[in-house]
Amino acid sequence: MIYLGVDLGTSSIKLVAMDANGEIKGTAGAEYGLSFPHPGWSEQAPADWVKGMEEALKKLSEKIDLKEIAGISFGGQMHGLVMLDENDNVIRPAILWNDGRTQEECDYLNKTIGRDKISAYTGNMALTGFTAPKILWVKKHEPENFAKIKKIMLPKDYLAYVLSGVFCTDVSDASGMLLLDVKNRKWSKEMIEICGIREDMLAKVFESYEVVGTVRPEIAEKYGFSKDVKIIAGAGDNAAGAIGTGTTEQGMCIVSLGTSGTVFIACDEYAVDPDNALHMFGHATGKYHLMGCMLSAASSNKWWMDEIIGTKDYAAEQAKIAEIGKNHVYYLPYLMGERTPHNDPDARGAFIGMTMDTTRADMTLAVLEGVTFALRDSLEIARSLGVKIDAVRATGGGAKSPLWRKLIADIMNVKVEIMNSEEGPGYGGAILAAVGCGEYASVSEATKKIVKVKDELLPDAEAVKAYEEKYKVWKQLYPALKGVYRDVAHK
Ligand code: XUL
Repeated sequence: MIYLGVDLGTSSIKLVAMDANGEIKGTAGAEYGLSFPHPGWSEQAPADWVKGMEEALKKLSEKIDLKEIAGISFGGQMHGLVMLDENDNVIRPAILWNDGRTQEECDYLNKTIGRDKISAYTGNMALTGFTAPKILWVKKHEPENFAKIKKIMLPKDYLAYVLSGVFCTDVSDASGMLLLDVKNRKWSKEMIEICGIREDMLAKVFESYEVVGTVRPEIAEKYGFSKDVKIIAGAGDNAAGAIGTGTTEQGMCIVSLGTSGTVFIACDEYAVDPDNALHMFGHATGKYHLMGCMLSAASSNKWWMDEIIGTKDYAAEQAKIAEIGKNHVYYLPYLMGERTPHNDPDARGAFIGMTMDTTRADMTLAVLEGVTFALRDSLEIARSLGVKIDAVRATGGGAKSPLWRKLIADIMNVKVEIMNSEEGPGYGGAILAAVGCGEYASVSEATKKIVKVKDELLPDAEAVKAYEEKYKVWKQLYPALKGVYRDVAHK
């Protein structure tokens, strides 16, 4: 039996085919573009996800027999607004998690209605990336599109709908819509009313490991699946990544370096941060998690490498970095504004501290350090809430870099655990599929058997000291630039 995990990312889709013991039998992927119709806006065509999935399935079929697939599940980019009309046509391009157009709508929710109320309804405050403010934006700015809405769904749920015809979502991903009563794992009547929609426009909510249906016969024929392949609800990419790294138990933490960067902490109980600085979402285990999210993590490095330096050989650039902890260049990674901790769509990227002797390697290191400092901001919020974090599991594309893993250990002063699989959300999706198909009794049982720590990296005391000082300097930069950012974005 093969279980397929589909990681629907922001820059690409990745498929991970795993057997019942968790051994990876094949992977395949396909890339697609993002469109930025205005500075700070971010959109994607759902048809590109389907095309990407088809391309990746074709590549995967050269490695495994797709007929052996018993179950398919997902880890998907969160928060994106996908809207379908009465004929199931996509009404407009999806508005993504890193889109910052909804500040006015967030102000309405947090200030006019009140953050205390929104937090009581959902466990979270309104943030520009979340789905509900996007619905309000469409209602105000595109009333003709709003009037056509029959179904509202998240990116991975669109793929599940295409494959199975079932209008479904899961608790972890739905938590990021600001429409879910996260504590009780059901839609919030209050938020539905505030957004001016109806509950029948929202999908049926499942736990991540539950079977939602089977593939449609025409899909089975088209892709060469057997006709009884089960579709399992899946999870938001962070919760799926947590499953893929075995982050299932109270207090366990992952640092993810994907397009976004997150600090994710598993919790047994529902526990809202009183300042709503961290998100409180459902976990794919059936429990909860806290999370801080920065918007441009590995994407800062990709931007610096691909667009500015003009290279694809990231390892060769990092090999030029001779020393760490001594760099006097600082980088602010706010290329798409920032979510945690600043909640500021107007924030922008910046380099500070260059001198005539600054080298390309110094700037490359500053980018990696700046992203890691920004992740430390989320970790510090968790620590201030009394969460004790001594070890983190690193995941996401950026975590494949040994240098970046070392920076996590030294800047955050934590042990970094390196896992047997680097496939994060895709592997998590495959594990959820295996649980849904009855291979394991629970998600925790599956991860305990399948996911292993391969190696660990301890912080280096001297580097920790040096970075403690650098972090103090770095922390002063955003407050100093905040007013300038406003002018840069609005004048
Ligand atoms: C989480 C978030 C991102 C996306 C990236 O809140 O917005 O991590 O899920 O795919």
